[in-house]
Amino acid sequence: MPDWIVPLGDVRYTGEDIEALAATYRSGWLSQGAKVAAFEAAFGEYVGSRHAVAVASGTAALHLICVALGLGAGDEVLLPSLTFAATAAVVTHVAATPVFVDVRSHSRPWLSADGVEAAIGSRTRAIINMSYGGHPGEVLALAELARARGLALIEDAAHAAGTRVGGRHAGTIGIAGAFSFFANKNLPLGEGGMLVTDDPQLARRARQLRSHGLSADTWARHHGHASDYQVHEAGFNYRFDEARAALGLRLLWRLGQENERRSALAERYWTELSRVDGVRPVLAREQEPEAVSSWHIYPLLLDPKLDRDAFRSRLGAAGVQTSVHYPPLHLMPAFATSRASRLTATEEYARQTVTVPLFPHMSEEQQAHVIASIVNACRS
Ligand SMILES: Cc1ncc(COP(=O)(O)O)c(C=O)c1O
Repeated sequence: MPDWIVPLGDVRYTGEDIEALAATYRSGWLSQGAKVAAFEAAFGEYVGSRHAVAVASGTAALHLICVALGLGAGDEVLLPSLTFAATAAVVTHVAATPVFVDVRSHSRPWLSADGVEAAIGSRTRAIINMSYGGHPGEVLALAELARARGLALIEDAAHAAGTRVGGRHAGTIGIAGAFSFFANKNLPLGEGGMLVTDDPQLARRARQLRSHGLSADTWARHHGHASDYQVHEAGFNYRFDEARAALGLRLLWRLGQENERRSALAERYWTELSRVDGVRPVLAREQEPEAVSSWHIYPLLLDPKLDRDAFRSRLGAAGVQTSVHYPPLHLMPAFATSRASRLTATEEYARQTVTVPLFPHMSEEQQAHVIASIVNACRS
C-alpha cells in the first residue's frame, strides 16, 4: 500500500472501541444476538425509523428491499448511472431492469424529480435515489412523485449516515432505505449494512430473508424461545454479528460530532478552492439550506482543459490520494444492455470529477497540504 501523506479516507478507533470488540469475543456469543438487536434499536431511533434490520452489507440491504418489494422480471427501476455498481446490481439480481436517468446538473449531481418523471413508463415499478456524497438531493420531491404515481421509492443511503432534510433522516423518506458500514463510510465497521423502514411487513420479510428464510434464528433457539424452525421461503445468509454491532453502537454516538468535523473541513475546501483557477468545488452548504449533509466525500470538477489523469498523478506524487465518484454505470459492460436515455450531464460530470481526501480527523496541516497540492497540480 502506498504511504499516502493524506489518504482519501481514514478510520480511527479508540482503546474503548477495541475493548468493546474484545469484550464481545470474550463473551463467547458471536452470531446475531442481543448486541445486534441493541444496535438496530439505537440506529432506528437515531434515524427515526420504526424498523431497522442489520445485515451483512449495504448491498444486502438493497437486495432485500428489492426482493421484499417483489420486484422481478418485466419491472423497470429508475436510478442514477452516477452511483456505485451495487445500486444497479441488486435490480439485475431480482431480474428487473435498471433504467438509468441523468443527474440534474454539474453542481447537483443527483436525480432530478422532473428527469425521473419524464422517464416513467408503463413498466416502471420503483425509483432508487442515491444520496450522492451525503447530500439528500431531491428525495422529498421524488417521494411526492412516487406517491402520486404509485411507485416505490427506495433510498440508497450508503453515503448518508447523518444526512437530514425537511426534519427527516435520509433513508426514512421512501418505502425503505439501505445504509452501508463499509470501511470507508461515515460509520465504518469494515463491512455491514442496515435496512430501515416503517413498513412492518417489509421489515418482517427482510428479517426472515436475511437468515435463510427461517422462522427462528440461532439466538432465539439458544435462549429457548423456539426449539424448532420452519423454512418459510428460500432466503440468504445476510446476517450481521455481535462484534460489529458492539463497535457500531460506539460509533453511532459520535457520528454527529464526526460529521460536523467533516462539514467544517468541507467549508474550508470550499473557501480555499473556489479561488483556484482550474478546479471548482461541487457541493456547497448553501446549495441546500434545508438539508444537513453527512459530507461523505468531497468531489471537485476540473476545468475540461486540464487532463484528469495527469492531475491525479501530480496529486499522487505529492502523497495525496484521489478517486473518481463515479465512472457511470451505463457505460460499464455489466449494464450496457440496460436502458438509458441520453445522460449528458452524467457523462460530462463523470469525465471531469475528482474526489479529494475527507475524513473527520484530517489535520489542518494535512488539509493545507491537499489544497497546496491542488494549486500546484492546476499550474503544471
Ligand atoms: C452508493 C453506494 N451504494 C451501495 C453501496 C454498497 O454498500 P456495501 O459496500 O456495504 O455493500 C456503496 C458502498 O460501497 C455505495 O457507495
